[in-house]
Amino acid sequence: MTALLRAVIVGAGSRGNRVFAELMATNDVGFEVAGVVEPDAARRAAFCHRHAVPDAQAFATLEGFLAAPRFSDIVFVCSPDRTHFAICRDLSEAGHAIMLEKPAATTLAECVELLEIQRRCGNPVFIAHGLRYAPFFRAVKALLDGGSLGTIRHIQLTEQVGHWHFAHSYVRGQWRRADQAAPIVLTKTSHDLDILQWLVDEPVASVTSHGSLSAFRADQAPEGATARCVDCPLQDTCLYSATRFYLEERPEWPYDVVLEGGPDTQERRRRAVEHGPYGHCVWLNDNDVCDNQVVLLEFASGKLATFSMHAQTADNTRDLRIFCDLGEIRGDLRRGELVVSRFSGHKDDLRPEVIELPPTTDSHGGGDLELLRALHEHLTEAKHADIMTSLERSLASHVMAFLAEESRLADNVKIRVSPVLIPAALRQPVGEALPEPLPMPELDALG
Ligand SMILES: NC(=O)c1ccc[n+]([C@@H]2O[C@H](COP(=O)([O-])OP(=O)(O)OC[C@H]3O[C@@H](n4cnc5c(N)ncnc54)[C@H](O)[C@@H]3O)[C@@H](O)[C@H]2O)c1
Repeated sequence: MTALLRAVIVGAGSRGNRVFAELMATNDVGFEVAGVVEPDAARRAAFCHRHAVPDAQAFATLEGFLAAPRFSDIVFVCSPDRTHFAICRDLSEAGHAIMLEKPAATTLAECVELLEIQRRCGNPVFIAHGLRYAPFFRAVKALLDGGSLGTIRHIQLTEQVGHWHFAHSYVRGQWRRADQAAPIVLTKTSHDLDILQWLVDEPVASVTSHGSLSAFRADQAPEGATARCVDCPLQDTCLYSATRFYLEERPEWPYDVVLEGGPDTQERRRRAVEHGPYGHCVWLNDNDVCDNQVVLLEFASGKLATFSMHAQTADNTRDLRIFCDLGEIRGDLRRGELVVSRFSGHKDDLRPEVIELPPTTDSHGGGDLELLRALHEHLTEAKHADIMTSLERSLASHVMAFLAEESRLADNVKIRVSPVLIPAALRQPVGEALPEPLPMPELDALG
């Protein structure tokens, strides 16, 4: 029988409640929901009711949890980005194992400090970069590591965010402003940079990025648009009308985010659209994060990877092409399509081989569920050291994201990466003692 690990969820919102706690409750993945830290009383009560969490194991603050007798094996930190640093620091100092939602922190200095704290405290800290665990990316990695396609030369990865998803989260939602959240290349796409680093498996030599807020801005607004959709003459036809989107009684994410965890009534939805952040016109808001960005990564041996993030897409998926010396890989994460074409040396002689993948329903290709499975097996049976997204490994993606943003803001300059900047931890097997303290990035070198 699987040993049950007792999990505490910090932040019972979309990720903590709807994703991780629900996956734990509805799948045999070896975790039981043992407690919660959530400042919103109504959310906390609903969470405790759903997961039979006793009052003594439900807290409004982290301080309350830390002061109580220990009752858990791991803490899932799913609170807003800007709280991650302090929460992870305090949990580490109290010796807790942690699964920390990405991004680990919202500045490079805090990321580096978290790593120092974790090394000093010695507690396991993982980042919820769920894509590495998805069957799709594990199959891609196995193909590359198998060696039959030869050397990788070039990778193209595109994140098609989906026009509706972008409008919800990055124009109206909590990640819309870099000064209140962080640049989108970190908050949305640290996943993708992590995947590219993992697939190529060598240090990054330079980072260059182009991008801007090109569509969701005032000079692109249709004539007659008003600041709030409820007053807008275009609300019945506009693609992004908040009244059409959020007033439909759809109980699932993202439509229900406007309810803030409270009861689903038409009155509450209407009030949210009239007065809350999700009722703003997508062209006349205060958002500033890029809706169109490209990152070019050059790796130590000359391999190239381009990563593109686009808002204006029909689908919400990731599209991948990898070009190697002996063949190429093409794939679409959400559709679960993965095709390998090995070179024949002849014209028009294509023999694509379709790789079968298990069906998945979520936008991470099943990665969240597989993350839980792998995490449990890692903690209890020391498996999966090859994929585990430890804090050390995950920080490489964060460093790339900060450098990409720096490049973009500095007129797309190419930033050379010193070998010490992206730590040697990239190659460090998770759970293995480090031979030497890892060289830390010279923060001054980042400007
Ligand atoms: N891994 C992924 O693919 C992925 C996807 C989406 C979001 N995220 C990340 O997950 C985190 C949570 O996102 P979300 O969409 O669930 O947000 P959310 O707003 O739905 O939920 C956050 C919850 O945290 C609570 N909270 C606020 N301050 C807190 C504190 N100090 N201590 C404890 N709880 C606190 C809020 O009341 C809320 O219930 C964010 O960091 C986000 O960037 C990761």
